[in-house]
Amino acid sequence: MVRYSEDLIEEIRNSNDIVDVISQYVILKRSGRNFFGLCPFHKEKSPSFSVSPDKQIFHCFGCGVGGNVIHFVSKIENLDFRETLELLANRANISLPTLDNSYQDNKKAILKSKVYEINEIAAKFYHENLYKPSSKEAQEYIKKRKLDNRTLKSFLIGYSGTFDELFKLLKSKGYTEEEILASSLVNKADNGAFIDRFRRRLMIPIQDATGKFIAFGGRVLDDSKPKYINSPENIVYSKGRNLFGLNVAKKGDTKKIIIVEGYMDAISLYQRGITNVVASLGTALTEQQGRLLRKNSEQIIIGYDADGAGQAATLRGMDILQNMGCDIRVLQIYGAKDPDEFVIKYGPERFEKCVDSAISLVEFKVRILKQNLNLDNVNDKIKFLNETAKILARVDNSIEQEVYIEKISKEYDISKEAIYGEVNKIKYSKTSEKKVLERAPIKSYLKKENIEKLDESIIKREKMVIYILLNYPKESFEKIKDIITEEEIKGKLNKKIISKIYDNYEKKKQVNILDSFEEEDIINYLSGILAEDFEIADINKCIEDLLNIYNKEKLINERNNILKQLENAENLNNAEIHALEQKLNDIILHLAKVK
Ligand code: CTP
Ligand code: MN
Repeated sequence: MVRYSEDLIEEIRNSNDIVDVISQYVILKRSGRNFFGLCPFHKEKSPSFSVSPDKQIFHCFGCGVGGNVIHFVSKIENLDFRETLELLANRANISLPTLDNSYQDNKKAILKSKVYEINEIAAKFYHENLYKPSSKEAQEYIKKRKLDNRTLKSFLIGYSGTFDELFKLLKSKGYTEEEILASSLVNKADNGAFIDRFRRRLMIPIQDATGKFIAFGGRVLDDSKPKYINSPENIVYSKGRNLFGLNVAKKGDTKKIIIVEGYMDAISLYQRGITNVVASLGTALTEQQGRLLRKNSEQIIIGYDADGAGQAATLRGMDILQNMGCDIRVLQIYGAKDPDEFVIKYGPERFEKCVDSAISLVEFKVRILKQNLNLDNVNDKIKFLNETAKILARVDNSIEQEVYIEKISKEYDISKEAIYGEVNKIKYSKTSEKKVLERAPIKSYLKKENIEKLDESIIKREKMVIYILLNYPKESFEKIKDIITEEEIKGKLNKKIISKIYDNYEKKKQVNILDSFEEEDIINYLSGILAEDFEIADINKCIEDLLNIYNKEKLINERNNILKQLENAENLNNAEIHALEQKLNDIILHLAKVK
């Protein structure tokens, strides 16, 4: 990966105080040495999101996310590492290296900017092409889809030509083959010929939130397959990080944003005055898209197609959005397969009405459940009640829960008492489960595989070793490294972290440990260790205690080994037995000392 130098990264981090930066996004209150606020990455009512000015880290004790200022900005602004550094450098008035000392970085940046230019030229070329007499087919298609000229202009919708028209145009403007290929708009055939990727398709440019042209969707004009060809992921395009139409939607009121499945749905709604619409780009909703939505709006309305695939996508998308703490509604439309068809058939007023009465997640889940059951059948009814109770038990606001129970009771003709009964059963077992988890040292955010039923005291001890190695390297490293070796460490993540710490130390690498990892789960976990308060009063005493524990454990293991051998002494001769006993004595003496 092409990166800025470690020194520069360090400088950028040091010039951006984490409390200052996070305060731009989260209201923080001081409490002791740290600051607390409501976590911007999950939904919560009491603050478990902590920021440490001393350690320059953040960590949420609720959902487990954490890291340094770079991780925070990258997450909240939905930027990659490089873009985050650029933003933070800019914020601190640090100028980033030019061609001489960062040739690779610059080369990439230049190529990127060329690709943006190429995309924009292509969008305009396709758009103009749409109006040419030779594009009659496309013009007829536009008419059939009832798209008006203003809409075509707003989205710069176009029509792609034949063979290599775009390639020739780009060449004539002086772009190199490397730049043109990087845009993915042209392919190079085996025989070396260049062919436009999009030919004779209705062209829908995809722009990022700031309006830069990043990709295209190209639709066939008839029923042939594939219906769409899209730009592949490339140097400027990542479909999981963008939403179609966001740049246009942002120009209007986005208190609510409707997310639809198809480009055509977004375009069609826009034309009819409903401008707060975006479309996902042919993939299941991603977390990054969720963040983009949350950043730009207060309520998100999922308006996917009414078919089974749309429902499944809705369920998946809802979970992502809900975990991020978004206020979500689900649009219910009847009499049309998608928002485009609906708005054409019934008009925008009726569509707006549907938006206003979009249902909550709980209601949607209950509705889906109902679809596959026959409530006149007793077994189905019991199943419905059980599953509904599970859905309701997850609603933690009790007033909200009561409202739903009331509604469901009426709508499906089930007594309120019966529903309450089931919900309480689940709630009760949930709380006992939760208590167990809370007692565990590693909270629920840890992946299950890492919990591995390890003795909690061992994990806690290992975390302390990590904490000490990182915070008191001078005092601890030389003493610890030979005794608490990587092999001694039982926790999977702990092992990875300690191994990296030793490695950095051996190589005399002065990096911020959080920058040593790219895996999000490790960064989150590690920020948790760093954020923890181990209350170390006397560091030397503390190290000594830890070493004693490990030494003692080694001795006990050895002792147990010998005892086992002595138990099966039939195969041993006297001399061997004697040697073992001698060893055992030594160990026992040793053990007495470490105590
Ligand atoms: N899609 C795709 N490739 C396909 C089919 C669909 O990339 N072969 C993506 C496109 O982003 C498309 C979205 O999935 O917009 C939804 O698909 P669909 O509902 O079929 O497309 P619409 O945009 O609604 O187009 P139309 O109304 O013309 O059918
Ligand atoms: Mn569609």
